[in-house]
Amino acid sequence: MKREVKKAVFPVAGLGSRFLPATKASPKEMMPIVDKPLIQYAVEEACAAGITDMVFITGRTKRAIEDHFDKAYEIESELMARGKNDLLQLLQDTVPKGINCIYIRQSEPLGLGHAVLCAAPVVGDEPFAVLLADDLIDGEPPIMRQMVSVFEQHQCSLLGVQQVPREHTRQYGIVSTAHDGPGPWAITGIVEKPAPEQAPSTLAVVGRYILTPRIFELLRRVQPGSGGEIQLTDAIAALLEHEKVLAYPFTGTRYDCGSKFGYLQATVAFGCKHPEVGEEFSAYLAKLNRC
Ligand code: G1P
Repeated sequence: MKREVKKAVFPVAGLGSRFLPATKASPKEMMPIVDKPLIQYAVEEACAAGITDMVFITGRTKRAIEDHFDKAYEIESELMARGKNDLLQLLQDTVPKGINCIYIRQSEPLGLGHAVLCAAPVVGDEPFAVLLADDLIDGEPPIMRQMVSVFEQHQCSLLGVQQVPREHTRQYGIVSTAHDGPGPWAITGIVEKPAPEQAPSTLAVVGRYILTPRIFELLRRVQPGSGGEIQLTDAIAALLEHEKVLAYPFTGTRYDCGSKFGYLQATVAFGCKHPEVGEEFSAYLAKLNRC
């Protein structure tokens, strides 16, 4: 029987220390790229892939995320009274019909692997997606849609990957593959944040995964790894001993919005193509460049 991906896990309990003081009292996932918070881009990407159950692994100071994906009665009735129907529609579209939002608190910051394990009671015995909102990926079709299509064909776990400069391997999970043809490629090994001289390749995992439910039993067993945290990468390394896992070189542009530079790049790129301000903003940038 062909299995389908209907659930997505969004680990959003991280501290966001790289964006302090902006993230002192509000979640980093709520930082906007132009006018939409990062987490909304990720949820829209999951929706576009046909995923219906959004599972957020949250923590303290993350309540704004729950409010964001809830009905906003006060603003909605105010907009209705003023006849601002466009804005009203925009608000009501934040959570499209038929989408369920589920929140689980990760009370201790024990790592990405632990965050994913927190979703086990909700995900159960189904394949599921993981999206890291920090990694904003502009692709057509949206990258999770691309990955779900690959999953439908191969019925195994797969990870979104891209080439990175060797000096950056310490920021990523790095895979080794039976690298042949245009991809996806079978993964033969994976290691979390290796030093450049030890990295088996420069093919990095970005924040998009489709995983089979066996990952949960492996996550329960892995010991703290890189940074003293329970690493998803280590459980994937263990999964390789049981199942095929594919590396999928997606089509699209990734912005590392966990870093200030990546965040600014995303702001410029999305600003330039924004339906309301894109033209004006592009002209402004062109003028700056001439100075
Ligand atoms: C996490 C993962 C890492 C992956 C990266 C992608 O690291 O642990 O394997 O390559 O996301 O963004 P983090 O960026 O949370 O340190």
